[in-house]
Amino acid sequence: MLKTHTCGELRPEHVGQEVTLAGWVNRQRDHGGLIFIVLRDRWGVTQVVASPDSAPEAHAIASEVRGEFVVQVRGVVRLRPDDQVNVDWATGHIEVEAREIRVLNTSRTPPFYIYEESAVDEALRLRYRYLDLRRGRMQRNLILRHEVVQFIRNFMDAHDFIEIETPFLFKSTPEGARDYLVPSRVHPGKFYALPQSPQQLKQLLMVAGFERYYQVVRCFRDEDLRGDRQPEFTQLDLELAFVERDDILDLIEELFTQLVRTVTPHRRILSPFPRLSYAEALDRYGSDKPDLRFGMELVDLTPRLVESGFRVFNSVAGSGGKIKGLVAPGCADYTRREIDELTEIAKKHGAQGLVTLAFRSDGVKGPAVKFLSESEIATIVEATGASEGDLVCIVVAGAAVAAAALSALRLTFRDRLELVDPSLLAFGFVLDFPMYDWDEDEKRWNAAHHPFTMPRPYDYASMASDPQAVLSEAYDLVCNGYELASGSIRIHDPQIQSDVFRILGYSEEEAQARFGHMMEAFSYGAPPHGGIAPGIDRTVMLLAGEDNIREVIAFPKTTQASDLMADAPSPVTERQLAELHLRIVDKAS
Ligand code: AMO
Repeated sequence: MLKTHTCGELRPEHVGQEVTLAGWVNRQRDHGGLIFIVLRDRWGVTQVVASPDSAPEAHAIASEVRGEFVVQVRGVVRLRPDDQVNVDWATGHIEVEAREIRVLNTSRTPPFYIYEESAVDEALRLRYRYLDLRRGRMQRNLILRHEVVQFIRNFMDAHDFIEIETPFLFKSTPEGARDYLVPSRVHPGKFYALPQSPQQLKQLLMVAGFERYYQVVRCFRDEDLRGDRQPEFTQLDLELAFVERDDILDLIEELFTQLVRTVTPHRRILSPFPRLSYAEALDRYGSDKPDLRFGMELVDLTPRLVESGFRVFNSVAGSGGKIKGLVAPGCADYTRREIDELTEIAKKHGAQGLVTLAFRSDGVKGPAVKFLSESEIATIVEATGASEGDLVCIVVAGAAVAAAALSALRLTFRDRLELVDPSLLAFGFVLDFPMYDWDEDEKRWNAAHHPFTMPRPYDYASMASDPQAVLSEAYDLVCNGYELASGSIRIHDPQIQSDVFRILGYSEEEAQARFGHMMEAFSYGAPPHGGIAPGIDRTVMLLAGEDNIREVIAFPKTTQASDLMADAPSPVTERQLAELHLRIVDKAS
C-alpha cells in the first residue's frame, strides 16, 4: 500500500511514530513559514505540517500543491498544541510533521468546493458526479447505503432466506409503469423488457420450492420522475411460501426495527409499528402513506353539518361527499395572504375552495362565519377540539378530493409549524387496499397493486358483480409520509388468477400471451405464498435524513431521466440500428 495509515486513524497514541499517508489535498494554507495541508481520504482528514527548517524539500513541494492534488506524505505524528486541538475531527489532537511529500497527481481547479458543504447547483454536481461524490455528505450517504445493504443481507441470511439472481432481459411485468425495452438482434422485431420488479420470477421461485427467497435487485421503470422516483432503483425483493400476511409484516417490522437500531441508533422509531387499514388511513390522514410523526388528524364533520343552512355545507347532502376539517394550532392570526395560499393548496388538489374559521380572542373570524349558526360553530368546536388561537380548515368535496386536499394542508402545516421531531422514523403498515382502481381514461379496472395479488377471501365471492368493493391482501410499509414497501399475499389458484385477469379486461388469448408461463407453472402445485419489496433508495434516503433519493444513489439520473456526466441517453450509429432492425422515424417526439 502507498499508505501505512488512513487519514481518519491517527490518535495521540500514535505520537512519535513515522507514518505514510496518501489522499487528496482538502486545503492548503501557507502561514508564511509553516504550510498546513489538510489531507483527506475515505476515512477522514488529517493535518499535515511542512516546516522550511526541518524539511525544506517537503516544504517546497507543499507550497506548490493545490486543492484536490493527490499526494503522499511521510512524516512523524506529533501532538497539537492545546490551543490548536480541533474537536470536530477524530484526528484533531494530532498532526503529521512532513519529512517527505510526493505529488502523485495534480488536479485542475474543481468546479465547486469539495471540502465545504456549500450549496451547489445540482446539474453541476451531476455533471461532475465523481467530484461531488468526494464530498463529505455523499461519502457518508453511500457508506450508510452500504451499511444498510450489508445489514439486510446478514438479516436475511440469518432468517434462512437465500439470494437468487433473476434475469434483466425478460418480459414485460405489469407494475403499472412503462417498460424499458431492449431490441433483440437475433430475433428481428422482438423485444425484451427490463423488469419493473422480479415479481413473476420470485413467484416462480416459490413454485420451484425455494420457500424463502430474497434479492437486492435493480428494477427499471419508465415513469414520471420525482424526488422519490428514479428510472432504475433498487429493491430488497423477497418472497416466502406457506405464509400469511402477518408473518410477513412481523418479519418486516423486525427487519426495520433492527436496521435502525444497528445503523442509525440515534434515530427514534414508533414501536410496535401501527397497523391501519387503507380506509382508516384515508379517513384519519387523507393519505394511504400518512406521515405518522404527528397528529393533526382529519375530523369528519359530515353528519353534523350536512343539514346546515350554509349552502357550501349542505351541497354534499345525498352525494356521498364529505365535510372534513383539521385544526391548525396557533394559526388564528394568519393573514389574508396566508389563507389564500392555503386555499390555493386545497384547490390544487381539486377542492372548490377552503372554509376557514379563526378562533381569535375577539371571536370567530372567517368569511363563512356569517352563514353559520352559533350552535353550528359550537358543534365544530366540539368535534375538532379547536380552542382560542387555532385555525380550523374545512374542505367540502367528494371523499377523494377532500382527503387529498386536507392531506396536502396537513403536510403544509407540518412544515410551517415544524411539527415533527426530525430524529423520528414513524413506520407503520397500511392494510386492506382496494383490489382494483377504476381507470377513467381507459374505462376499465386496473390492479391497484398488481394482478397477482389475492383478493380477500370474503370479497372474492362478489368480485365479478362489484369489483370496486373488493379489498385485497395487499399491504404497504410507510414511513414519514413515504411509501417504503409494497407487497401482498399472491394468488396461487389458477381459477382465481384467471377471474382477476378477466376483470382486468384481458382476453383469454392476451392473458395466455402475457402470463401463460405463470398460469402453466401454477398448475404444477404452486404453494400459498406472499412477499414484499422495500425500496432501498427510499430507505437510505430516510435514514440519511435526505429528502431526495438522488442523494443516496452514486450515479442517479435527472428528472428528465438523463445522465449528465456520461450524456446518456445518446444517439447510436446507423449500423447499430440496422443490426437491431430499427429505424428512427421521428426524432422530435
Ligand atoms: P411496488 O411497485 O410498490 O411493488 O414497489 C415497491 C417499492 O419499490 C420502491 N419504488 C421505487 N423507488 C424508487 N424509484 C421508483 N421509480 C420506484 N418505484 C417503486 C418503493 C416501493 O414501495 N413487485 C412489487 C412488490 C411485491 O408485491 O412484492 C413491487 O415492485 O419503495
